[in-house]
Amino acid sequence: MPATVIVGTQWGDEGKGKITDVFADRADFVVRYQGGNNAGHTIIIGDERFALTLIPSGVLNPGVTPVIGNGTVIDPGVLLEEMATLESRGIDTSLLRVSANAHLIMPYHRKIDALQERYLGSGEIGTTKRGIGPAYTDKYGRHGIRVQDLFDPKIFRDKLAVALKEKNKILVKLYNQLAMDAEEIAAEYLEYGARLTDHVTDTSLLLADALAADKNVLFEGAQGTLLDIDHGTYPFVTSSNPTAGGAAVGSGIGPTALDRIVGVTKAYISRVGSGPFPTELTDEVGATMVEVGGEFGTVTGRRRRCGWLDAVALRYATRVNGLTEIALTKIDVLSEFDTLKICVGYEADGIRFEEMPRQQRVLYQCEPIYEELPGWKQDIGDARSMDDLPPAAREYIERVEKLAGVPVTMVSVGPQRRATLSR
Ligand code: GDP
Ligand code: IMO
Ligand code: MG
Repeated sequence: MPATVIVGTQWGDEGKGKITDVFADRADFVVRYQGGNNAGHTIIIGDERFALTLIPSGVLNPGVTPVIGNGTVIDPGVLLEEMATLESRGIDTSLLRVSANAHLIMPYHRKIDALQERYLGSGEIGTTKRGIGPAYTDKYGRHGIRVQDLFDPKIFRDKLAVALKEKNKILVKLYNQLAMDAEEIAAEYLEYGARLTDHVTDTSLLLADALAADKNVLFEGAQGTLLDIDHGTYPFVTSSNPTAGGAAVGSGIGPTALDRIVGVTKAYISRVGSGPFPTELTDEVGATMVEVGGEFGTVTGRRRRCGWLDAVALRYATRVNGLTEIALTKIDVLSEFDTLKICVGYEADGIRFEEMPRQQRVLYQCEPIYEELPGWKQDIGDARSMDDLPPAAREYIERVEKLAGVPVTMVSVGPQRRATLSR
């Protein structure tokens, strides 16, 4: 702290929620800067399990102000529902602050997301169908509708009418669907606006004031580096910038304020949805990772594809995020295996790649070059300090850190807060 970014180094689901929750102990503000309710962050506190999609994980720490920044896309109905669910479980959401500049996910975005996927057939991205891509498309096309528009019924209706003129043509003529009714949407959304009004503010100013007052601000990335629209495995990515630079743009603070960038890295790697995955395992080793790691999506319940840690991708994540350190998660899952593998390069057409190849097709065609390390074959879930870990586990961590080029400062051996070792 004072301004720390938590970012996923893989294709999401690295355990960012858990690591954010651990850091949030010392935070005053926890900020989401991109994405929307495509994220699924699971946090276990005692016997309770929380699955957050849009509200920053910091909401679970009393006294923390959770902030949803300008770079996000917000489905207001989902947001209100998530707030109500938390309230019903005794979690106070009154401090939540939402950027007036964030864009809204509209009902036609959800619909078009699903229809586009169907249209792509076997080329589908495997999106979460939450309307994320279409909402960002409208933002960058400069005909999005923003949170602040909810407080001006005339402007909201005008913008909606313009949007629907185009969307209804797309729905009816291209996809053979029913047209959507402007007044129905306006009534629904303006009511959401009335319920959210006390939470909406200039979050850029709020965070600038917080940093000026030496408050601790934590930025919680959603998705991960390889799902970044610029730096990920395009087009099999999400439509925002999860990478650390996105924290500045997506929250309205200058990049000079960011001083610690923590990359959350799972000790193996997973991916939901389509796209290249060099170290993917379709054998029983992969199946064991799914089973022992509980690798099923928080949002859509889909089975995650799993494979060995990819150090080429990790080094890449270190570079594009400017990582200062790594939090290595779910290392307890590796206790199952006699021998562990880490991918240290790719080989395709007799060429060895130690950096992300220029041409993405290499990721489909390559053979991973693996380094083998001994497993430890004993339960490490109860470890509470590095000294409790068997030598082979420590060796694995040291190897990851060497390959990544930045120190591993935190190791997670279980989903609970206390199952976190600092180094
Ligand atoms: P996120 O999207 O990056 O926040 O990650 P998810 O919450 O989608 O997925 C991570 C899953 O692993 C969650 O179910 C966590 O409770 C769980 N988890 C986090 N850290 C650990 C760990 O160190 N060990 C184990 N076994 N589970 C963990
Ligand atoms: P967290 O924050 C894993 C994936 C989807 C799909 C692609 C595009 O929990 O790590 P989208 O709906 O964003 O247009 O889908 O991105 N995806 C995620 N995968 N974890 C996530 O979030 C994801 N959010 C989106 O599966 O492949
Ligand atoms: Mg997740």
